[in-house]
Amino acid sequence: MSLTPREIVSELDRYIVGQNDAKKAVAIALRNRWRRQQIPSPLKEEILPKNIILMGPTGSGKTEIARRVSKLVKAPFTKVEASKFTEVGYVGRDVDSMVRDLAEVSVKMCKEEAIAKVNAKAKTQAEERVLDILSPRSTSHVGPKLNIEEEHSINADEAREDLRRNLQNGDLNNQLVEIEVKQTAGGVPMVSMMGPVAGFEEMASNLQESLDKMMGGGRKKQRKLKVKEALDIFEQEEAQKLIDLDQVQEEAISRAEQSGIIFIDEIDKVVSREGRGPDVSREGVQRDILPIVEGSAVHTKYGIVRTDHILFIAAGAFHTSKPSDLIPELQGRFPIRVELKSLTEEDFIRILEEPENSLVKQYSALLGTEGTTLSFDKDGLRAIAKIASDVNASQENIGARRLYTIMEKLFEKESFESPDKPAETLQVDANLVNQRLDPIVKNEDLSRFIL
Ligand SMILES: Nc1ncnc2c1ncn2[C@@H]1O[C@H](COP(=O)(O)OP(=O)(O)OP(=O)(O)O)[C@@H](O)[C@H]1O
Ligand SMILES: [Mg+2]
Repeated sequence: MSLTPREIVSELDRYIVGQNDAKKAVAIALRNRWRRQQIPSPLKEEILPKNIILMGPTGSGKTEIARRVSKLVKAPFTKVEASKFTEVGYVGRDVDSMVRDLAEVSVKMCKEEAIAKVNAKAKTQAEERVLDILSPRSTSHVGPKLNIEEEHSINADEAREDLRRNLQNGDLNNQLVEIEVKQTAGGVPMVSMMGPVAGFEEMASNLQESLDKMMGGGRKKQRKLKVKEALDIFEQEEAQKLIDLDQVQEEAISRAEQSGIIFIDEIDKVVSREGRGPDVSREGVQRDILPIVEGSAVHTKYGIVRTDHILFIAAGAFHTSKPSDLIPELQGRFPIRVELKSLTEEDFIRILEEPENSLVKQYSALLGTEGTTLSFDKDGLRAIAKIASDVNASQENIGARRLYTIMEKLFEKESFESPDKPAETLQVDANLVNQRLDPIVKNEDLSRFIL
């Protein structure tokens, strides 16, 4: 992982409009992880991650930044919602589970890498196994043998090589073979049976595993499969045999500790409102989160994970509260505060068309499958953006999310009718937008429900 801050920002730019301060802060924090790795101990141990809080109104891109960062970094990353946690002893998830999630992600990642390394060998071995089924190997190579047998074995070898070529060309892909496959347990969802009681979660997931093993984890079953499918299954099995699971887990723990990132979304939801009352457990959650952010040891299935060097990025809208309402110790652990701006009409225009997954591209592609071509005019986009920001101002400001409801309403007609109609091109200009949406926007009650 060695993208420079500038590269990280430009990657984020592909999906998120504006919010440069937030992008920069995140990019610097990510690069600092790499920088620290270059520094020798003991100084390295002293350098703690600079945790970040992203604040900004609803629908301004906080969670979106997290989602994109997770795809970008080649480090274990997990995103949790603070509102899902409860103080130990209450019903809900316990905070340690975020570290267990991270360990899980890290193991998966390291395992995939290990498997990729043995891939070629696993492929060959899988081929051998399929060949063994298609044409049982001749055993006549050992010991002295009669001429006639020798000849026979050479023929058999040749036949096997022919078969191998066919197999590699994919000529046999659809042929059926019978193989033994491990039966996966039907999975009785123990965890949900027990209910999400904080603290019991890990116990429950361990129980689940033993249960899975009991219920036929080791049992095998004969199945008829296509050669292609059999190859895939064998390849996986062989790869599992070739990798050293202990080593993978060790590497995974160390990677989670050294470069892991935990994104705590909705952190403002655990700020207790004034007056206390039934909110006491929120502050309890903050107190539970604190040791994790400060550095502690968390037990996971794969071993103990120390959290000292994990990077935490928190985000919250902080509508009715401020970061200073967090308990002081926790505030101190998030030294970097970045504000995301409320999105403007200009931003909306850009959000509609610029990102690689923009709504304009999405709707064009969706309706394109029905033969309807959408042709967006600049003033059409402007009209959509204007309605979005008007409704945000008159109703509730839900940021870019407003664009989703508006676009859905705008193309309701085509979404329903286009399969029954011949191919057509729809000109999306200001006229069309206003004609279709004005009646709803003008009527407050209607727009409250529809847009
Ligand atoms: N700056 C932006 N650029 C592009 N798209 C955006 C931007 N901000 C928001 N969006 C779009 O709006 C949707 C909602 O944004 P997001 O989930 O990031 O909101 P949020 O800031 O996390 O809000 P909340 O505080 O309610 O969680 C996203 O799916 C994203 O596509
Ligand atoms: Mg969010």
